[in-house]
Amino acid sequence: MKYLVFDSKKEASKEAYKILKSLINENSTLGLATGGSPIALYEEMISDYKAGNFSYKNVKSYNLDEYVGISYDHPESYHKFMEINLFNHIDIEKANTHVPDAGNSDLSAALKAYQEQLNNAEIDVQILGVGSNGHIGFNEPGTPFEKGVHVVDLKQETIEANSRFFNNDINLVPKQAVTMGIKDIMRAKHIILLAFGEAKQHAIKRLVEGDEITENIPCTVLKNHPSVYVLVDKEADFK
Ligand code: F6R
Repeated sequence: MKYLVFDSKKEASKEAYKILKSLINENSTLGLATGGSPIALYEEMISDYKAGNFSYKNVKSYNLDEYVGISYDHPESYHKFMEINLFNHIDIEKANTHVPDAGNSDLSAALKAYQEQLNNAEIDVQILGVGSNGHIGFNEPGTPFEKGVHVVDLKQETIEANSRFFNNDINLVPKQAVTMGIKDIMRAKHIILLAFGEAKQHAIKRLVEGDEITENIPCTVLKNHPSVYVLVDKEADFK
């Protein structure tokens, strides 16, 4: 695991983009995350694309998760998030992008379909954020590492953290999501995890320090992965 600390989110995200670019080519498959952590990285991807340095025409993408219970037109759905923050600004083909179909009335069929898609994909680089409780994707503490795509009941701390995207009203935050499993995340060839702000310090400490791997702090599973880059700002650094 490579652990890199930067003065700011911007600097960390610039370096994350350099690392990403060294690991992919224009035919690669990306695993993508939503939330605050990857936004500055997506800005780097967009500006390099606009400068004519990289094309996403043949790139495929798979997102980690999607809320259950809000429409894809909702500005905070992860379908919409990806359009607003990345897909609308690069030349990726819509048909090559995949976000869990959590709005499907037959949810178990949708889970099965996403699992099959993931099983047939080879993700070159998975972008991750991390929850203050250590979740990756929406694999909350206690999730068995062997689980694949599933529906999750979001923990209270996740609902509270994400209320900042919903007018700070926890009642507006969906209570469930569909997520890739830890097993699916671990299949990626490389992983780039971004964490910013003091609230992430504890999870980062558990991820970077010592040998403990526990389902109670899901991100610790990454200690078992052969190629992980963890980039943080100094507020998320634990030293
Ligand atoms: C998002 C995701 C989550 C977030 C995590 C951190 O697709 O899977 O694990 O990465 O909740 O969220 P932010 O980046 O908003 O602090």
